[in-house]
Amino acid sequence: MPPFVFLDEVYKSFDGREVLRGLTLVIRRGEALVILGGSGTGKTVALKHIVGLINPDEGRIYVDGRDITDYAENEMLPIRRKVGFLFQGGALFDSMSVFDNVAFPLREHTALTHEEIEIKVRGKLKLVGLEGVEKMMPSNLSGGMRRRVALARAVILEPRALLYDEPTTGLDPITTKWVSKLMRNIHEDLKITSVIVTHDIQSAMSIADRIAFLYRGRIKFVGTPDEIWECDDPIVHEFLRS
Ligand SMILES: Nc1ncnc2c1ncn2[C@@H]1O[C@H](COP(=O)(O)OP(=O)(O)OP(=O)(O)O)[C@@H](O)[C@H]1O
Ligand SMILES: [Mg+2]
Repeated sequence: MPPFVFLDEVYKSFDGREVLRGLTLVIRRGEALVILGGSGTGKTVALKHIVGLINPDEGRIYVDGRDITDYAENEMLPIRRKVGFLFQGGALFDSMSVFDNVAFPLREHTALTHEEIEIKVRGKLKLVGLEGVEKMMPSNLSGGMRRRVALARAVILEPRALLYDEPTTGLDPITTKWVSKLMRNIHEDLKITSVIVTHDIQSAMSIADRIAFLYRGRIKFVGTPDEIWECDDPIVHEFLRS
């Protein structure tokens, strides 16, 4: 079986400024991979390449064994169904109830009946530990609850992989711990591939099977949480100590 994602020597510049400089990364099927790295190092840009929201200048992108580098927008649709994406900030539709937010992908992509949608939405809200909040509006929820609604929405189409961009940024330490645990539980319950971009080292340690450290558009280290502490690269050390 090929890896779930393979980024092969990816280069990407914006306005003449190189962001990814030969990024090579293998994401194994079924693993929880955390991508660590400083602000502006290209973490979000790397994730967006996996779902075709950004195209590389050079290099190839493989998802589930297929070379998607030159896929047209309509060819990306099945990939995006397979790979859920939780954007930085976890944006919900503010004008829609929790129920309608979570139901949205089902209404867009399936022909399920209202009853079937209701069963699925309740099931996914239960999975993230939320019940009885279907009628509430996002603005009346806490930050942690909003992340959980976004998570329920991201898994509603039963993806094979989930990409999280800074899922705990802006949350207090207790909620961060809780959301990290939830991500790990969902990873195991749904037996999916999880890719988590974060600044939060503690959160990374609690979720990751492996950690990749991104620096200046390349992977500087990849290994288990135990191995990263033993890595003697000064830049990796500095990051872990900060
Ligand atoms: N669509 C775009 N157009 C122009 N520049 C972009 C675009 N997307 C990203 N960049 C630039 O690429 C660089 C890397 O951005 P990216 O968002 O990937 O960083 P990041 O590692 O996710 O940082 P953070 O931790 O702050 O989210 C930044 O300098 C950013 O301004
Ligand atoms: Mg980012």
